[in-house]
Amino acid sequence: MTVTALIVAAGKGERLGGGMPKQYRQIGGKPILRWAAESLIRHPAVQWLCVVIGRGQEALAAEALRGLEVDALIEGGEERADSVYAGLSVISGDVVLVHDAARPFCPPSVIDRLLAPLEFFDGAAPVLTVGDTLARAGETLGEPVDRSGLVRVQTPQAFRLGALWAAYDRWTGDPPTDETSVARAGGLTVAVVEGDAALEKITTPADFHRAEQWLEGRLVPRTGLGFDVHAFSGEGPVMLGGIAIPHSRGLAGHSDADVVLHAITDALLGAAGLGDIGEHFPPSNPTYAGMASEHFLAHAAQVVRASGAIIDHVDCTIIAEEPKVGPFRAAMCDRIAGIASLAPSQVSVKATTTDGLGFTGRREGVAAQAIANIRMGWIDG
Ligand code: CTP
Ligand code: MG
Repeated sequence: MTVTALIVAAGKGERLGGGMPKQYRQIGGKPILRWAAESLIRHPAVQWLCVVIGRGQEALAAEALRGLEVDALIEGGEERADSVYAGLSVISGDVVLVHDAARPFCPPSVIDRLLAPLEFFDGAAPVLTVGDTLARAGETLGEPVDRSGLVRVQTPQAFRLGALWAAYDRWTGDPPTDETSVARAGGLTVAVVEGDAALEKITTPADFHRAEQWLEGRLVPRTGLGFDVHAFSGEGPVMLGGIAIPHSRGLAGHSDADVVLHAITDALLGAAGLGDIGEHFPPSNPTYAGMASEHFLAHAAQVVRASGAIIDHVDCTIIAEEPKVGPFRAAMCDRIAGIASLAPSQVSVKATTTDGLGFTGRREGVAAQAIANIRMGWIDG
């Protein structure tokens, strides 16, 4: 079964306001559209991603989706249904998950629940029961409405692609607000599965605020570890923590051999699960030869924040008999904080010797260990 995620993001977001279409507004450091795209494509069953955007939104979409594998990026239409139709026209595969970009957080368990019934049904939609009393209302309250059997229908909605396509072709009513209306009118069977509060659509400023708070409540602390060693070679100074320390010998390395910045860079990347320094700056690439390590650290801090994380603290231990780093510790903290856009109080640098033991004890090189503590949004479960 090949599954394509079709995200409609061609709306104007007029009810939310805020100067730009809501799908490009940021929550927890990431555009809403990116949250939506990531939460669908990281599900193992989802192979393809098609995003439908509004005319003139190309640059915003490219920025929001940077680095993600988007198989088709196409222009939508006047109504949501036009955008869905435009998407359906270009995708293939067995199953489509049609999703609103305005619902940034889709737990993987919802996708599991949606795909399971497709063996027996043409489609499936996530729903939530209605808890409040329902009533008609004008200026004053009118007749109550029996809420039993009523549900609120969310997206993503899963359909056999051919069946949904045929139903859309047969649709003659006013523009539908979702696919279940089209599917039902076209005679398709649509299974009902449990939705999730995380999937609430962002429509008004109150919804936006609620989504921000929801994510804030889901920030979990994570710790990353970094370690680096460089051998003494040639003449000083020695670069440590972005500070040039006068010394008779220097450190050998592909870049400026700043073990402190390298260890902190790896700790940050590790905390966010974003690989390591070698993956971001391959030593085989001559562009990075001799590059000041501050670029590596600045990049790591930026990508960690771009993943929605907050950096709380970094701590580093330098392991060396020489040079003496004590007099430079405060300057290193200031420098590291400046590079990573932190306050100096969020940075700690310490140093130790190994009592003459091992390669550092034999004064063959300098090692550094680092730990980074971050808080990162977590939308599963
Ligand atoms: N959408 C779309 N094409 C349209 C209209 C809406 O792709 N012509 C998308 C929106 O980008 C959103 C989803 O459909 O992801 C749900 O629509 P809605 O919440 O109404 O978003 P907007 O139309 O952008 O908001 P508003 O109605 O407040 O302008
Ligand atoms: Mg709309």
